[in-house]
Amino acid sequence: MLLSPDQRSKMDLTDDAVFYSEPRFVTHVDTAFIQRLTALYRQVLQPDTKILDLMSSWVSHLPEDLEFSEVVGHGLNEAELARNPRLDRYFVQNLNKDLKLPCDDGEFAAVLNTVSVQYLQFPDAIFAEILRVLQPGGTAIISFSNRMFPHKAINAWRDGSDEQHLELVSSYFRATPGFGEPKVVVHRGGGLLPWLSLTDPFYVVMAKKV
Ligand SMILES: C[S@@+](CC[C@H](N)C(=O)[O-])C[C@H]1O[C@@H](n2cnc3c(N)ncnc32)[C@H](O)[C@@H]1O
Repeated sequence: MLLSPDQRSKMDLTDDAVFYSEPRFVTHVDTAFIQRLTALYRQVLQPDTKILDLMSSWVSHLPEDLEFSEVVGHGLNEAELARNPRLDRYFVQNLNKDLKLPCDDGEFAAVLNTVSVQYLQFPDAIFAEILRVLQPGGTAIISFSNRMFPHKAINAWRDGSDEQHLELVSSYFRATPGFGEPKVVVHRGGGLLPWLSLTDPFYVVMAKKV
């Protein structure tokens, strides 16, 4: 088993839909992080393809000038998703209760998950679903920083360091046969003194469906 029952658990076990019932029209990371993520999307994503933004909100951080054939959003707060200008359509679903995505096999060229992977209690099941909905050669891009709602993050994440988070997300990919070896991207400001950095650390773990 990828995670023990205790590692999957979290401090606040009330339904996630309650915590996310009020829209938050904020950005959860700083401008430097978002600019790096948008630049990475520009490098990796192909125009005129279909994208799934899993655990999205009112922003998807996609390059403004890149046109996709369809961007599908998912999240827990409908008002946030309705205001996201990049989404062609969206669905609301609690991924800690309903582990199957309402999407076809091989539907997407890329699946994005931004600053949210720490809230997944069943990442093994959700990564298997991400693999299923990706087309062969498609890419899953999981990005995160060092921020979280601690009471909603799983214990395995809340108790871990940034390095351990990179390992954990890599292990989610490696535990899902059908993904290639994950690639890690790290950017911390501060040079040799990263703890003095004034910007949010930028972490990405991404892998292709082979
Ligand atoms: C920190 S926000 C990040 C939102 C967005 N990806 C961004 O970049 O700003 C975390 C998101 O995860 C989603 N989320 C949290 N728990 C969830 C759950 N159990 N099922 C589905 N989505 C969840 C919420 O809808 C929320 O928008």
